[in-house]
Amino acid sequence: MSEKSLFCGMNKPADPGNLTETEKKHIPVIDCPDTVKAGEPFEVAIKVGEIPHVMQEGHSIQWIEVFSGESFLARVDLTPVFTTAEVTVTVVKSGKHRASSIRVVERCNLHGQWEAVKQINISE
Ligand SMILES: [Fe+2]
Repeated sequence: MSEKSLFCGMNKPADPGNLTETEKKHIPVIDCPDTVKAGEPFEVAIKVGEIPHVMQEGHSIQWIEVFSGESFLARVDLTPVFTTAEVTVTVVKSGKHRASSIRVVERCNLHGQWEAVKQINISE
């Protein structure tokens, strides 16, 4: 029986408390406030991997997408060699919900899709 392909579905850590090196290089790291004010822009800084992922010809992060929960917000396409796997997106949350999440998905050309989710609170 073969191992599950990294290109089958969304990759998530097997044990979040004990990440493998591949997981450390691919799980997006989301840096944004824990609480944001409704209607006010805030920055979501994203880097791929607590160990920075390479951006070489033949092995690189192809794109990074940002969602609010399941709702699409932004996508950045990346070029190896000339970019790093880091982006910052300015987001505005409405006041319709008290809690929400920022979800980030990235795709490595050799290791498939990976996601991370950060919960945020929204104040009036
Ligand atoms: Fe990779």
